[in-house]
Amino acid sequence: MTAIPTSASTGGIGLTLRDVRRAFLGGVVAVDGISLDVAPGEFVAILGPSGCGKSTLLRAIAGLDRPTSGLLQLLDPNAKEKGDGGRALAYVFQDAHLLPWRNVLRNVAMPLELMGVAANERADAARNALEQVGLGDAMRRYPAQLSGGMRMRVSLARAMVTRPRLLLLDEPFAALDELTRQRLDEMLRGLWDRAGMTVLFVTHSIAEAAFLADRAVVMTRRPGRVVIDHRLTLGRERSGATRTSEVYVREMRVLYEALERGDRGEPA
Ligand SMILES: Nc1ncnc2c1ncn2[C@@H]1O[C@H](COP(=O)(O)OP(=O)(O)OP(=O)(O)O)[C@@H](O)[C@H]1O
Ligand SMILES: [Mg+2]
Repeated sequence: MTAIPTSASTGGIGLTLRDVRRAFLGGVVAVDGISLDVAPGEFVAILGPSGCGKSTLLRAIAGLDRPTSGLLQLLDPNAKEKGDGGRALAYVFQDAHLLPWRNVLRNVAMPLELMGVAANERADAARNALEQVGLGDAMRRYPAQLSGGMRMRVSLARAMVTRPRLLLLDEPFAALDELTRQRLDEMLRGLWDRAGMTVLFVTHSIAEAAFLADRAVVMTRRPGRVVIDHRLTLGRERSGATRTSEVYVREMRVLYEALERGDRGEPA
C-alpha cells in the first residue's frame, strides 16, 4: 500500500524553460521562444489571447505533450524523496471532468485509489480536501446535484488530495459567474498560501491574474511569445479589499497594456 505524501515531502517544484517551441503537423506554431524560470512555491499567472498557446504550454509542462525544440525542466528540491508515492503535479481543466456515477467523496478520492492508497486513508484525505474547499457537507452528493462552482471546487479538491508540488490550472473558473469566480480565486489563493506548492494559472482575465498571482506572464498572439514577465507589487495577503485598491488597478493596467502590445504581435 502506498502512503499519501506527508507535509515533509511537499514544497514546490521549480521550472526552467528555454526557447520552448511547439509546432504541430501542418505547420501551426503554437508557441515559440518561450523562456521562463519559476521558483519553487511561486504563484504565476499566464495570460494571453485565445489560441496563443497557453494550453499547449501547460500540457508540455505537465508532460502530456512535448516541445518540438527547447529545454523544459522540472526542478524538484525533494528529488530524493521521489518514489514516496507522492504525485508531483496535478492538472485542473476548464471542465470539472467528474465521474457522474461516483459521489463527490469518491471522485475526490480517485487519484489516491489509482495510487493504491488504502481505503480508509484515502477517504480521510478526500474529506480533508473537501473541507478545505468548503464542501464538507456535500460529500455524498453526485455531480449532477451540484452547481458549476461546486463542481469546480470538487475538481480542485481532487487535485489537492495528492498534495501536488506543482498545480497547473487551465482557465478553471472561466465558465462561472463573476462573484463565484472571485470567491474561488480567494479560496485558491488561500490553498496555495497554506500548501507551499508552485502554481501556474492560465487565464484570459486580467482581473483574475492580478488578484491571484505574484507574477504574471503575458503572451503575444500566436505564435505565443512572452510580452512581459511582470512581478506584481501586491502583498501576500489578498482579500476582497485588494480588488478596490489603487495598486491592484495600476497592476491591471500594466497587464492590459501588455496584452494590447501582444495582440499587435509585439514581443518584449
Ligand atoms: N494537437 C494539435 N494539433 C494541431 N494544432 C493544435 C493542436 N493543439 C493546439 N493546436 C493549435 O495551436 C494553437 C494554440 O492552441 P492552444 O490550445 O494552446 O491555445 P490557448 O492559448 O490555450 O487558447 P484558448 O485561450 O482559446 O484556450 C491553436 O492555433 C490551436 O489550433
Ligand atoms: Mg487553452
